[in-house]
Amino acid sequence: MKNIIKNLFTTKSAKELIERTKTGSLKKTLNICDLFTIGIGAVVGTGILTIIGTAIQGSAENIGAGPAITISMILAALVCVFPALCYSEIASVIPVAGSTYTYTYAALGEFFAWIVGWVLMLNYVIGNVTVASAWCGYLTQFLKGFSAHLPSFIINFPLFLRSDVRSICYMCENYGLDPHSQMPFIFDKIPFAINLPVILLTLFATLILVKGIKESTRFATVMVGLNLLMIFSFIAVSAFYVRPENWFGTMGNWWTTFAPNGVHGIFMGTFIIFFAYIGFDAVSTAAEEAKNPQKDIPVAILGTLTFCTILYILVALVLTGVVPVSGINPSAPIAAALHMINKDFLAGFISIAAVCALASVFLICQLAATRILYAMSRDKFLPRVLRAVHRKHRTPHVMTWLVGAVIIVCSIFMDLNISAQLCNYGTFTALIAICIAVIVLRKTEPDLKRSFKVPFVPLFPLLGVITCTGLVIYSFNQLSTSVYMFALWVIIGIIIYACFSYRNLR
Ligand code: ALA
Repeated sequence: MKNIIKNLFTTKSAKELIERTKTGSLKKTLNICDLFTIGIGAVVGTGILTIIGTAIQGSAENIGAGPAITISMILAALVCVFPALCYSEIASVIPVAGSTYTYTYAALGEFFAWIVGWVLMLNYVIGNVTVASAWCGYLTQFLKGFSAHLPSFIINFPLFLRSDVRSICYMCENYGLDPHSQMPFIFDKIPFAINLPVILLTLFATLILVKGIKESTRFATVMVGLNLLMIFSFIAVSAFYVRPENWFGTMGNWWTTFAPNGVHGIFMGTFIIFFAYIGFDAVSTAAEEAKNPQKDIPVAILGTLTFCTILYILVALVLTGVVPVSGINPSAPIAAALHMINKDFLAGFISIAAVCALASVFLICQLAATRILYAMSRDKFLPRVLRAVHRKHRTPHVMTWLVGAVIIVCSIFMDLNISAQLCNYGTFTALIAICIAVIVLRKTEPDLKRSFKVPFVPLFPLLGVITCTGLVIYSFNQLSTSVYMFALWVIIGIIIYACFSYRNLR
């Protein structure tokens, strides 16, 4: 028994990991602007383009924050601050171009590394179900703009072939429709819907990744520029159509209009919109290539958080000021708001830009998923066959197809909100692990050179653990489906570790 416990906590020494980076010797070329671009590129996306709609309005699972989403956004940013500082320190200690999985291996040992790696798959694989569904929402909005020119089978493409069962049921409930009128039922009992555009996008991305792509920083920068351009143009144009009564009502009922579900709605909004902040840690993965990591990494991480919070608040103010909460379109809120104020051309531009940006996010996330899984398989957590490399293209094709297949299967029975909530759970687990890792590494490896140090250790990392855990526990009390799915995911992870990985590692 003692032996087993010792094995569970076997770490990979930080020195060993650092040695690896010396042989790789990546060039130290990134300045503060590059780091900002990486941060903003990783953070701004589906959250502000789509999830914001559900966070404001609510869904089958969660209550909405209403216009008070602005407060939820500030709270979500505050929850990110302590883990952000911890990422900065870890990245300065172990400047490995890896992920939270690697850091956890160094600090907390084999078992937690596996669990963190396993739940990170929720981010990259299940998170991609969110991205793909959002992509489909904007594609539909874009095509709507051509209703006069496109054949009617495209414009009236059946809903059950471009959505999922949960979303259709929720829509029917909201509009008092009979679900039988919207989708077929197998044996008259089991509702059937598949999202064909999502399946096609996944197959296309998987084929590209099997053939092999080079990550291009220039391409990423263009996508960041496009993203910011569409968001700023939405703010600039729609700001003139804001009606303050949409925020505060008319007859002294300002609080019920501003926060229709009160404090609960605001907290739930914090949990849901947290998705929009995921990715700030991407800056830390570039520590090895930063010119001046000591100063630039923390500034870039905290700067990214501040910039995104301000940007998000502006979008939320404008969106809730232009559209009453009940009128928000949860599948493409920004484009639909522009249609409402008759800015069809801009709505079309934003829709096509979102389609391109989200497709690239999808591709990058699938690439990241296969990379982390590849690293985990190389560390012997997963069967050898999964890291088979394609003879001609030299890519991990088995892993890539497996990830693609999981995304397709999950897109059939998960809606955009459930997958986003699961993704949040994955991120919270990683953030909690990183906060604990900082405290542990200070004790176990006190002599490592730390070019950036979290102030007030252990207070700050502990505050990170407390705020993240608090939000997770709060959501556990409010949500159900995603909580069960998350628990199931962790249990499956533990079973795989116990039945396969533990033995395979030795
Ligand atoms: N924060 C990222 C997004 O909103 C995950 O797409």
